[in-house]
Amino acid sequence: MSAVSTPSEFGTVANFVNAQPSFDPSVTVGTLVDEFFQNAPLEAVAVVQNSRPLGLITRQKLLFTVFRRFGWEVFHRRPVAVLADREALVVTDVTGIDQALGLAISREPDDAYDDLIVVDAVGDYIGLLSVRQMIVQHSRILANILMQKEVADAKARELEQVSEIKARFLANVTHELRSPVNAIIELAELMRIAAEKGHISQIRDRLTLMLSSATNLRSIITNILDLSKIEAGRMEAIHEQTDLVDLLQEVAATTRILVGNRPVDVTLETEGKRTMTTDPVKLRQIVLNLTSNAAKFTDSGSIRIRQSFHVDHAVIDVIDTGIGIRAEDLERLFEAFSQLEDAKHKRHGGTGLGLAITRELLELLGGQIDVQSEIGLGATFTIRIPDMKERLPL
Ligand SMILES: Nc1ncnc2c1ncn2[C@@H]1O[C@H](COP(=O)(O)OP(=O)(O)OP(=O)(O)O)[C@@H](O)[C@H]1O
Ligand SMILES: [Mg+2]
Repeated sequence: MSAVSTPSEFGTVANFVNAQPSFDPSVTVGTLVDEFFQNAPLEAVAVVQNSRPLGLITRQKLLFTVFRRFGWEVFHRRPVAVLADREALVVTDVTGIDQALGLAISREPDDAYDDLIVVDAVGDYIGLLSVRQMIVQHSRILANILMQKEVADAKARELEQVSEIKARFLANVTHELRSPVNAIIELAELMRIAAEKGHISQIRDRLTLMLSSATNLRSIITNILDLSKIEAGRMEAIHEQTDLVDLLQEVAATTRILVGNRPVDVTLETEGKRTMTTDPVKLRQIVLNLTSNAAKFTDSGSIRIRQSFHVDHAVIDVIDTGIGIRAEDLERLFEAFSQLEDAKHKRHGGTGLGLAITRELLELLGGQIDVQSEIGLGATFTIRIPDMKERLPL
């Protein structure tokens, strides 16, 4: 039996120990039962040999064993050693009272109220410590222990959640990286075969496919790096005077290229002030992420980019007439790798990181994003970006 010893601000167990009589292991169970009957307040005794504790016997557990069917016949002549709990908690007399109580109540519920055996520095038996007595007399200590335990539990739960999110993210990253990598390896293998046979046109075709897989791989990696950089707080906003209209005109032009020859009108409506202080590079990436989604999910109709300027912030809406998003999917849209599962959405490529990055970038600029959508009718993403001129030190 190994003893625990840690001092504490509440004092040590030495002040509370009950110098209970101990029993030699050879004493019979019958004798001990008599002792419990004659000494009503006695809750437990230690079994001690040559001053060293061997185990604990509690009144409740002893009587339960002995007065079970045939218990008396089986046990009353046997030595108490056979019934001693050798796993009983042993602490030294310099152990902090709160530490001892903490250990006691974190045992199995059946054992939680069993007395603790107290020994001195060399391991010799001193007496017992009653957990019940402690709880009644020292509720302040107990409250403190419970509070500490609560705080520790909450911390552990929080850590567990963070590591679960990280693990899921990592699993997703690995999964998403594997498909283009596999494609590249398979295409390279096919190209080697084509090269051996001298089939130049096959090599050309496969090279094109390989380039597209490699490009996809690069954008996944760039996105993941962006995202982890923002999350680690290593990306900074660089605020400067920004011409919003110029910026949005550029975005609209790029969006028209993305739409290609589909019958989709890309329009820009601006209103109010032209310039504001923000990070133009990040703002362009944010709006482009939204319009490239609109372009991806709209086969016909329109994509409207609408900007208005208010006292200290700009509002930009990206409104499309595309396939829309189901109400129940709206919430998880901004989580990393949250590509929606239905066939219509699945048809389009992508990493599922665009909106996660958009939201993080917006946070960096001090802005917000909202989405409204009706399935089949289209989606409207609205962002609000503060004019940092109001907040920058002069
Ligand atoms: N305008 C939209 N209309 C309909 N569905 C949308 C729209 N924008 C986003 N979604 C849905 O939200 C999902 C997540 O979008 P997000 O931009 O994060 O990823 P992605 O476009 O699939 O990939 P990436 O942007 O990384 O290339 C999309 O896969 C799509 O299912
Ligand atoms: Mg996207």
